[in-house]
Amino acid sequence: MKKRTFLASTLVLLLVTAGWAQNRKEYLLEKNWKFIRTDEPDQKNAGFDDSKWQTVTVPHDWAIYGPFSALNDQQKVAITQDGQKEAMEHAGRTGGLPFVGVGWYRNTGNLPAYEAGKRVTLVFDGAMANSQVFINGKKVGEWPYGYNTFHFDVTDFLNKDNTPNTLAVRLENRTEQSRWYPGAGLYRNVHVIITDDVHIPVWGTYVTTPVVRPDFAKVNIRTKVEGNNTPNAKYRLSTLILNPAGVVVAKTETQLTKFDENEFSQDLVVENPQLWSTSTPTLYKAVSKLYADSKLVDEYATTFGIRTIEVKPNDGFYLNGVKTVFQGVCNHHDLGPLGAAVNKAAIRHQLTMLKDMGCDAIRTAHNMPAPELVELCDEMGFMVIVESFDEWNMPKTRNGYNRFFDEWAEKDMVNMIRQYRNNPSVIMWSIGNEVPNQCYPQGYETAAFLADICRREDPTRPVTCGMDNVMCVISNGFAEELDVTGFNYRTHLYLQGYDSTSHKIILGSETASTVSSRGIYKFPVVSQVAREAEDHQCSSYDMDYCSWSNVPEEDFALSEDYEWVIGQFVWTGFDYLGEPTPYDGSWPNHSSMFGIIDLASIPKDRYYLYRSVWNTKDHTLHMLPHWTWPGREGEVTPVFVYTDCPSAELFVNGASKGLKSKVFVSFEEAVGKSVGWGNTDPEAGSVIAGYKTNGEGHTLYERYRLMWPDVVYEPGEIKVVAYDKDMKPMAEKVIRTAGEPHHIELSADRTVIDADGKDLAYINISIVDKDGNLCPHANQLVTFAVEGAGTYRASANGDPTCLDLFHLPEMHAFGGQLTVIVQSGQEPGTLIFSAGADGMETAHININVN
Ligand code: GAL
Repeated sequence: MKKRTFLASTLVLLLVTAGWAQNRKEYLLEKNWKFIRTDEPDQKNAGFDDSKWQTVTVPHDWAIYGPFSALNDQQKVAITQDGQKEAMEHAGRTGGLPFVGVGWYRNTGNLPAYEAGKRVTLVFDGAMANSQVFINGKKVGEWPYGYNTFHFDVTDFLNKDNTPNTLAVRLENRTEQSRWYPGAGLYRNVHVIITDDVHIPVWGTYVTTPVVRPDFAKVNIRTKVEGNNTPNAKYRLSTLILNPAGVVVAKTETQLTKFDENEFSQDLVVENPQLWSTSTPTLYKAVSKLYADSKLVDEYATTFGIRTIEVKPNDGFYLNGVKTVFQGVCNHHDLGPLGAAVNKAAIRHQLTMLKDMGCDAIRTAHNMPAPELVELCDEMGFMVIVESFDEWNMPKTRNGYNRFFDEWAEKDMVNMIRQYRNNPSVIMWSIGNEVPNQCYPQGYETAAFLADICRREDPTRPVTCGMDNVMCVISNGFAEELDVTGFNYRTHLYLQGYDSTSHKIILGSETASTVSSRGIYKFPVVSQVAREAEDHQCSSYDMDYCSWSNVPEEDFALSEDYEWVIGQFVWTGFDYLGEPTPYDGSWPNHSSMFGIIDLASIPKDRYYLYRSVWNTKDHTLHMLPHWTWPGREGEVTPVFVYTDCPSAELFVNGASKGLKSKVFVSFEEAVGKSVGWGNTDPEAGSVIAGYKTNGEGHTLYERYRLMWPDVVYEPGEIKVVAYDKDMKPMAEKVIRTAGEPHHIELSADRTVIDADGKDLAYINISIVDKDGNLCPHANQLVTFAVEGAGTYRASANGDPTCLDLFHLPEMHAFGGQLTVIVQSGQEPGTLIFSAGADGMETAHININVN
């Protein structure tokens, strides 16, 4: 792109320019893309015959359609980070899906025709990966990193003779480029922006709120202008601030007087500002109107919020002056059965579940998010740590970002920060995750380089990094380059980290990594480093973790016991494709087990443990395991209850098994003294919470869960009654032994969706007995059909070992359940969903599309 500067003339003459009334237009390039997987070089040419290629809609993930195979990206490596010493097969490490290779996308006739005096910009929200963009056969540019947003001014590539323009994009993924499923292709939106020659460029505004008080807020807006100025025109910028109701609450107008600069700086005052917070996510809008004399040449809107953030040493993180302890989760970008193809309704669905759990923060592990995620976090009230990289110039994976870091890191950081620095939800930048550079003498220099880019581009937000080599980063100066010390796991080293770093606060940038499979329980129940079992599943008693990680209780206690622990980001909110620890060496296993919620968006038991601590508005009462154990009669089958209530009583077939109350056990008492503080082998990994007791024989588990370890299984029912502190019954829950699978029950998260061709409803399918009890061992094949005002989109069952394809209209039940995602059409009407299984009546549910 030719670099243009904006030079205004000092001569003030009236300008009359026809055609300027119509300025900015924006649209998405979604439909009628042609796609093929090939490495033939001439696919970019304008006249190339792509009529036989597949027609696809973007966002599109070419690999999510499978088939799964152990041979897809079969990595024979030693994951040193996980303590592996010898190279071994890691078939499911990236999900076992066919994302490796070259893919071409072509789109003809949907770019605007060349028009003198207009500029056309393409914005790619993310393209996986190594994109090369061509228009009419000529290369426009490239962007290697698949997660970042990039843009090109393509005006000079457009045909001047009115013939249709062809956009072609080549994407290439390599084996060993990722530690998880990256997705493939144009998996995020492609925007077309048409402006006048003089215009506000992409990310052309930077809004800050340097003063925020109850009676007023000062809002500073820096607005860039690009293009060739019209000689003699006098440029001015009129900026309005609209409150959430759309009422103009502040207004200012500025002449561009510094003729050698292309930036306006404006200060506005908003009286009695409504602050953005996680419970009141109030958004304002700045509308920037650029005039050349009396002509409006551009109009640009920026959503922002008014809020303050502050990190106080020895104290904590403050949002609007209120101490706030992060109740966060890390998430990868994939949307389970939808793959990496972004869909706003799917992200909203995820955030809605997390909000109900009491989660208030997201870390975008380990890369730039889709813009839709950040927009929704602004709207729904989540704080966001936007993270850039999983590796710098020292590799974790042979073909990972290390290949590009030296040349591209600054460009990637700049795009990330400029894209998201106006979003109130974004409260911190993370420059990396467990980068191998941590332990190298010059690692701190790279950390300083990246942190300085953050401070240059956005001095308003603190900088962190997810660090796991604690002893290295506190001794070699790496941690000191940051504003917030972020530890991944290493709960036993928090105090040491706190003592040895100047920030005097610790963020649990990544916590827990407890592993479980929904509905699977293993006996005997022990707290342990997850072991591999024949069925390739992990127990949902929530006591299995990795050699480097821990159970949730340690992170809860650290946040509560030490005011300088500013909260945590659990690994992970949702299960994701790839990284099937502890089965990453054995196939089939295509998805992770770290999630609090499974790949089918069904909460695991652990969801309710977090909810019982984090959601302080609603009561939680959840009991596990299920109570259908043919063959276990007479065997010890412990019962756990997750509740915010302090006590509960358990009954088995009406007989009381006793009242249990939570027992306060401090982190230090239960864990610290015996294993943690002063550990002679500080990098040894996690402490084993379940085995450690305080002086009175209590474990940290008893602070958060109620446990009846000695219950003996007998068919029938288990009932729990929860009591408040005055022993008033608050709620009760019953689980009954299920009979034979009898029928299908359907329920949808939403029964009214938008007729925009993109909105989604998530339908839960449960196999139940004749009385409606969930059959927890049901695993039959369920087939579906959609008629009317929408289409079938995908399904999943949360079983990491199941190789059913997400896009086919059939899926096995897992733990008696599965999820089907249906999508609206563009016409209003009724979407009729039906599901059937052998020997069962077909069940129906209607979704209104309007
Ligand atoms: C962390 C890493 C994550 C994930 C996790 C699994 O060390 O940052 O990306 O691999 O371990 O426990």
